[in-house]
Amino acid sequence: MRPRLCARAREREERAGETVRRDRPSWVTSRLARVGYVKIPQGAAFFVRKSEVRGLARRLPAINLHTTGAAMVATEAEFDHAKDKLKTLKKDPGNEVKLQIYALFKQEEARQKYVDFIESLVSTEVLTQSNASAIEDRKASFQTLNITTENNITTIMLNRPAKKNAISITMYEEIMKALEQAAKDDSTLTVMTGSGDYYCSGNDLSNFTDIGPEGMEQKSKNSAALLKRYVSHYIDFPKPLIGVINGPAVGIAVTVLGLFDIVYATDKATFHTPFSQLAQSPEGCSSYTFPKMMGTAKANEILLFNKKLTAAQACELGLVTEVFPNSTFQKEVWKRLHTYAKLPKNSLAFSKRLIRGVEKETLHAVNAQECDRLVERWLSEECMKAIMSFFEKKAKL
Ligand code: COA
Repeated sequence: MRPRLCARAREREERAGETVRRDRPSWVTSRLARVGYVKIPQGAAFFVRKSEVRGLARRLPAINLHTTGAAMVATEAEFDHAKDKLKTLKKDPGNEVKLQIYALFKQEEARQKYVDFIESLVSTEVLTQSNASAIEDRKASFQTLNITTENNITTIMLNRPAKKNAISITMYEEIMKALEQAAKDDSTLTVMTGSGDYYCSGNDLSNFTDIGPEGMEQKSKNSAALLKRYVSHYIDFPKPLIGVINGPAVGIAVTVLGLFDIVYATDKATFHTPFSQLAQSPEGCSSYTFPKMMGTAKANEILLFNKKLTAAQACELGLVTEVFPNSTFQKEVWKRLHTYAKLPKNSLAFSKRLIRGVEKETLHAVNAQECDRLVERWLSEECMKAIMSFFEKKAKL
């Protein structure tokens, strides 16, 4: 910012509306006057070029810069106050912004710009925080899930502990909605976990008994369409998806783990897909991901013959990344996740896309095939009997 313009240039620019008049000298001019370099006559007017103010605002497109202050000069107290305010920012503003702050900080004459810039940063963060309270409101609208976003991690917690977190139709819809929101929010990682002693007991079997006027056949088709959409949400999920498996997992809660990026489990967890026991067939792309992950022979024991895996066995077969003692599970896992969540978000998302991208089409095709088969299975006599016997408490797993 130039402290003075020569009289003729000033007249020309003022006429053209290019300069702004102000009553106080700039910080630099005052300093120079104090050490006797320049003299400031009584009642002198000072001018600043509008283009300089506009230039700064153009360089900061994301920040709502208050340019009104640019016609004034910040006092040293205001400058110190801005430095203190900068320390109150909760979120790292990023390298580009930090460079701009540094540049302003280093130029003594840019003190007012520095003050304005910090003011804008802080008010932008306040705005973001009020968005955060909107996010809180949004979370309150979930009946079957508890959702939090903290330290770059969105956690989707299945929250029907009295039913061992069985997935009702409402819960299917809510999980899809939560995944859609997590895909778009600011977080780096998304975690799925369960409340209570179970991670999830799979499909809520009462979904089968709730048959409306549409009849069995249509009900089966609708259920398959719902399942297909549900599994697609995992196939297409763009960020690292992490399972924090806090207890036993059954059915669909196990099969979709093949679409997760990391699975941490307590040593209390078990993994069970009792499809043939319920006269059903594999879903969640497990007919493809399990044989690929563990070999066909091992996958067959699990998917055809209902073998229940301990957490250690699931880890050996590649379904689980690592197993932790139950007493330290939460502490150790979350410590690790908080470290991962500090990694560059886009790098993680693009790396995931490279790892999963080649298989996406295949996974969608497998999902479609599995759902078609289930329409037939759900209508079968075998399946009806198995479900009835669960509700008669004859066939607990
Ligand atoms: N669908 C519907 N209800 C379920 C359920 C499911 N998948 N899993 C648990 N529940 C319900 C139980 O019916 C019970 O309800 P109630 O209190 O109204 O009687 C409640 O959740 C607690 O379960 P309970 O069976 O009493 O607990 P448990 O510790 O003795 O057994 C399970 C837990 C998960 C082993 C047992 O509930 C079970 O076998 N559930 C079925 C799992 C299943 O087949 N899933 C589908 C796989 S494809």
